[in-house]
Amino acid sequence: MKKKVFLISGGSSGIGLAIAAGLADAGHRVISLSRSREKIERGIQQYPALENRVDFITGDISSEKDAENVRTHVEKKYGVLHGLVNNAGILTKGTLETISVEDWKFTLDVNLTGPYILTKALLPLLKQAGSASVVNISSVAGLKPGTSVAYSVSKAGLDMLTRFLAGDLGPYKIRVNSVNPGLVRTNIHLDNKIVADKKTYEAMLDKARPRYPLGEIGEPDDIARMVMFLLSDDASWISGSIIPVDGGIMVENDLIPPKK
Ligand SMILES: NC(=O)c1ccc[n+]([C@@H]2O[C@H](COP(=O)([O-])OP(=O)(O)OC[C@H]3O[C@@H](n4cnc5c(N)ncnc54)[C@H](OP(=O)(O)O)[C@@H]3O)[C@@H](O)[C@H]2O)c1
Repeated sequence: MKKKVFLISGGSSGIGLAIAAGLADAGHRVISLSRSREKIERGIQQYPALENRVDFITGDISSEKDAENVRTHVEKKYGVLHGLVNNAGILTKGTLETISVEDWKFTLDVNLTGPYILTKALLPLLKQAGSASVVNISSVAGLKPGTSVAYSVSKAGLDMLTRFLAGDLGPYKIRVNSVNPGLVRTNIHLDNKIVADKKTYEAMLDKARPRYPLGEIGEPDDIARMVMFLLSDDASWISGSIIPVDGGIMVENDLIPPKK
């Protein structure tokens, strides 16, 4: 890939951190946007080489003001943006009867309105690139109901944002695609208090694993490789696609007898 400038939201942890590391290793200039310093420090502990190779900035993707500050920062320091990965996201629990209106709104604010705000703010810099790529990190839970109503609805909305923007921004040579991961080992369940502790988290993964046709849950790099492809010129004719990267969970069918 030609050396380019990329911004990853949520590049301090999990999938976003793996994407930031992959892009930095390939020699690109990488900016990560996330809220807390603690998670940035934790991410740097995991990938010490990134401390000087990724521009870790702080801000909230659901804040218009923060998004404007990000645009000013990128404009002044880099002058252009070749790719944006709307990866930052949160997880909340609950069905219609159990989720509070507050959690519903918070989930939609971060997972759906956040990518809208950030993409809108950075659009002038993406246009400046001549051709650019936006990748939205969605979820299989946006394609088939998961266990959290707000999370599933937020990701289904994000997939429609992908499809809408692919048509809307195509004339500017900006491609827009979704990557929809299945269950991936990251900090999201513990950090968002979906599970109480590491033991419960491992039990959750053990329960999920046999449901995956390939017999494994994902690692952040499994998702990062697809994102890097979509950011590259090798994907120059791909736009408006919703791409599960999910160990086969979307075709899981428990009526097929298990293999011996
Ligand atoms: N892990 C999975 O099983 C899985 C499956 C399907 C889809 N996904 C999706 O993949 C994406 C990444 O998830 P992950 O598992 O890597 O999660 P993670 O480890 O919890 O990382 C989330 C990142 O997003 C940042 N973030 C959260 N809210 C933000 C906000 N309002 N503004 C700016 N940054 C924010 C976090 O940092 P701060 O909290 O410090 O801001 C962190 O850097 C999410 O969109 C998630 O929905 C994950």
